[in-house]
Amino acid sequence: MFEGVAIHQWLCWGALYLLTAGVTSASETRQPCPQSCRCSIVLLEVNCSDGQLSTVPDGLPQDAKLLNLTHNKIKTLVNQRFCALTELLHLDLSDNLLALIEVDAFLGLQKLLTLHLAHNHLKIIPVGVFAGLINLQLLDVSDNEILVFLDFTFRDLAALQSIKAADNDLVFISRQAFTGLTSVQELHLDGSNLTSVPSEALTQLSVLRSLHFHRLGLTSIPNYSFRHLVHLKELVISHCPKLETLSANSLFGLNLTSLAIRHCNLNAVPYIPLHHLVYLVYLDLSFNPISYIHGNMLGDLLRLQELHLFGGSLQRIEIRAFRGLTHFKLLNVSRNLLTTLELDAFHSVDTLKTLGLDNNPLVCDCRLLWVVRRRQYLDLGGHSPTCTTSIQLQSWNFLDFSQTELPGLLTCRQPRILNQKPQVVKVDQGHTVGFYCNAEGDPLPSVSWLNPQLTPLSPTGRIRALSNGSLEVRYAQPQDSGTYLCVASNAAGNDSLAVSLYVRAFPSSTKNIFHLKGWFAFPSASPGVKGNQKPQFDIKTLLIAATIGFLSFFSSVSVCFVFMFFWSKSKGQIKHTATIAYVPRSAVSSSTGGTGKSMETSRFTMKLI
Ligand SMILES: *[C@@H]1O[C@H](CO)[C@@H](O)[C@H](O)[C@H]1NC(C)=O
Ligand SMILES: *[C@@H]1O[C@H](CO)[C@@H](O)[C@H](O)[C@H]1NC(C)=O
Ligand SMILES: *[C@@H]1O[C@H](CO)[C@@H](O)[C@H](O)[C@H]1NC(C)=O
Ligand SMILES: *[C@@H]1O[C@H](CO)[C@@H](O)[C@H](O)[C@H]1NC(C)=O
Ligand SMILES: *[C@@H]1O[C@H](CO)[C@@H](O)[C@H](O)[C@H]1NC(C)=O
Ligand SMILES: *[C@@H]1O[C@H](CO)[C@@H](O)[C@H](O)[C@H]1NC(C)=O
Ligand SMILES: *[C@@H]1O[C@H](CO)[C@@H](O)[C@H](O)[C@H]1NC(C)=O
Ligand SMILES: *[C@@H]1O[C@H](CO)[C@@H](O)[C@H](O)[C@H]1NC(C)=O
Repeated sequence: MFEGVAIHQWLCWGALYLLTAGVTSASETRQPCPQSCRCSIVLLEVNCSDGQLSTVPDGLPQDAKLLNLTHNKIKTLVNQRFCALTELLHLDLSDNLLALIEVDAFLGLQKLLTLHLAHNHLKIIPVGVFAGLINLQLLDVSDNEILVFLDFTFRDLAALQSIKAADNDLVFISRQAFTGLTSVQELHLDGSNLTSVPSEALTQLSVLRSLHFHRLGLTSIPNYSFRHLVHLKELVISHCPKLETLSANSLFGLNLTSLAIRHCNLNAVPYIPLHHLVYLVYLDLSFNPISYIHGNMLGDLLRLQELHLFGGSLQRIEIRAFRGLTHFKLLNVSRNLLTTLELDAFHSVDTLKTLGLDNNPLVCDCRLLWVVRRRQYLDLGGHSPTCTTSIQLQSWNFLDFSQTELPGLLTCRQPRILNQKPQVVKVDQGHTVGFYCNAEGDPLPSVSWLNPQLTPLSPTGRIRALSNGSLEVRYAQPQDSGTYLCVASNAAGNDSLAVSLYVRAFPSSTKNIFHLKGWFAFPSASPGVKGNQKPQFDIKTLLIAATIGFLSFFSSVSVCFVFMFFWSKSKGQIKHTATIAYVPRSAVSSSTGGTGKSMETSRFTMKLI
């Protein structure tokens, strides 16, 4: 088999050699070449470019491997027009006026590898046009006026690897349009007018590696849009001014190495849809109104090397934003609204090679010293960051300062908590307490609160750290007592202030065997507050309710004892002890039908008389 092919090729080349070496001038006359074309015998190329042709010329050399018909005025291709050119590998019909291609137009071109139909006026591709192109690898129909891809349009192109269909007016791709395309690795649908992802059609392209979308009229990418594209490595979505979100599972099933969503309207980094892309190396979210990169959210993208967020609305890159990204090499956040970029945002700054930070309103203080210190290892893309807010350093280029003068210019002021006088607050249980903590410093310090166990307090919950720096303890309880710590910190250091809280419990609550704690934990179940919009803890009501509850419990237990006493007497066998298991009916459960929350089984043993 192989030998046969080799011998055949040898014969071909031998013949070609004889032709070219011996009888060049004679062969030119023997071989036909249409008037407006130039035929190269050596390369077997026919160049009919710029020939003012309105139809495909007759008398084309039958052994031609390349036929170039670009820049002519051909309007239609009739069926079987090229059937004599069985050796043709490349056919270029770009830049004509093609509006109609008949079914079977390319029949007979069984060796054809590339077909260019770009820059024509095609509105529709009838099913069957591509019949016979069994070896075609590249099809370019870009820059036409195609509106739809019909079912089975490409069914004959089993060897096709790349479809270029950019800049058409595509509004719809039928479900079965890509049926039969078992080898397509690359699909460019840039510049279409699609309003949805043609998910159904795409499922046919099982070996697709690269997919480009451009001008998609979507507001959100729905769940499972790209399922079955398990081999897809590169996805580019761009110029979608309406696209605001990616559904949580929109990228489900993909294993990308490169993702670009540019010139869209995303206002947040799509952390959740991205997080399973552990092989992602390149991420481009440029020209989206994204304002934050949050801390600890990108860590799943273990192999990420490049993040481009050029021309966005970034105000802040939080500390630990790139935590876990041990291969991170390039960050391009030029043209944003960043005031700083702290070293602690990176997992390790040693891997960082390229940093685009220019055109941001940077505050030049000690937080940016690291950039200056590393400037000989960092490629700043030829545009170095400039200070825009410090009066002293305004519009100065970082690189204009020497290593020695910089630490004196890029400075920070350590935080100082104002009003340092000790705060000690004593309150009765149930009250709401606030502590203040105001701090100054440069940059303005962030204030956080630690509870007596030294764990940070969140902005929600009964005891919470408010955004203005205050601490609020609502419905104080005895166990809230202790020392709370306010910590004000910035890049230059920290300052702290301790405050003390003493919460006095209700005097009666220690005597009562039903601890009143339950009343506060489940206020909605309490009869005292039923019907009220806001829970109010009137101590009198509580005590009365508790007493009634206890009395009713006590009386039922007593009745029980009396009954048992008589029962044991009547049996004649006198038992001197009895063990009784009981479920205390707390006041809460007795009046609301029982929430079960404060019930617990107990038992006690008593001596009978
Ligand atoms: C084909 O012919 C045109 C017009 O004569 C010429 O400009 C062009 O360079 C030629 N192309 C090739 C590949 O020879
Ligand atoms: C055909 O000719 C044009 C103009 O010379 C050229 O740009 C184009 O690349 C050629 N096509 C092929 C397939 O060589
Ligand atoms: C496709 O979109 C372009 C640009 O928005 C517009 O000019 C053109 O008319 C649209 N075509 C169709 C068929 O909607
Ligand atoms: C997408 O899937 C997620 C997770 O299953 C689900 O919470 C969400 O509602 C879905 N979104 C849409 C638009 O269906
Ligand atoms: C994902 O892609 C990477 C390389 O791009 C490959 O090594 C890995 O096996 C793929 N994983 C799956 C589950 O296909
Ligand atoms: C950042 O991206 C912009 C736009 O693509 C480019 O012009 C610039 O050179 C990039 N900067 C760096 C440092 O790579
Ligand atoms: C902080 O906010 C809380 C609630 O909004 C308010 O009660 C408190 O007075 C504020 N503290 C300061 C220092 O402004
Ligand atoms: C405050 O600063 C000291 C050193 O200046 C450091 O040891 C400590 O961990 C810092 N505390 C906090 C909560 O950042």
